[in-house]
Amino acid sequence: MGDSGGAWHLSCTVNGEPVEAEVDPRITLLTFLREHLLLTGTKGACLEGECGSCTVIVDGRPINSCLMLAGQAQGCSIQTIEGIGDDKKLHALQKHFIATGAAQCGYCTPGLIMAAKAMLDANPSPTEQEFTTAIEANICRCTGYESIRQAIRDAYREIHG
Ligand code: FES
Ligand code: FES
Repeated sequence: MGDSGGAWHLSCTVNGEPVEAEVDPRITLLTFLREHLLLTGTKGACLEGECGSCTVIVDGRPINSCLMLAGQAQGCSIQTIEGIGDDKKLHALQKHFIATGAAQCGYCTPGLIMAAKAMLDANPSPTEQEFTTAIEANICRCTGYESIRQAIRDAYREIHG
C-alpha cells in the first residue's frame, strides 16, 4: 500500500482477478467491494463486527469486511460470494442453503456461506461442534440456525463424497 496524494494505492486479487485501485484510507473493505467494485453480494448490517453479514474470505480466513480497511487488503487474496458460484453452477453450499430452506430473507446468507466455506476449505473433517463454531459469529434472525447447519453438513458430504 502506498500513499499517493491522500489516496492509497491498493493492489490485491478479488475472486482471482487482479485489482489495482486508489482508495481513500478511511474506507472499509466492505465499502470498497460494494461501492467501488460493485460486488453487492456482500452485505453490511451492523457495521461494527457484531453480525457477520459482511464476511468475506481474506487469505483463507473469514473476515468481517466492515472492520477491515480497504488499504489493509494490500497484497491479499479476497473471495466474495460472487466468486464461489453463479446461477449456472452453484457452489455446494449455495445449493444446499436453497435445498434446506437455510435462506429466508437472505440478508445474512452471503456472510454465512463465506464463513462456512472458510471452514470447509481449511478443515477436511469437521466435528459436529466445528459445524456450529464456523458460523458462531454470524447472526440470522429468520431461520433458527438448524437448517443452516444442515446445509453446511450436506455441502460437506457432497464435497467429500
Ligand atoms: S456488518 Fe460487518 S459484522 Fe455486521
Ligand atoms: S435468512 Fe433472514 S436474517 Fe438470515
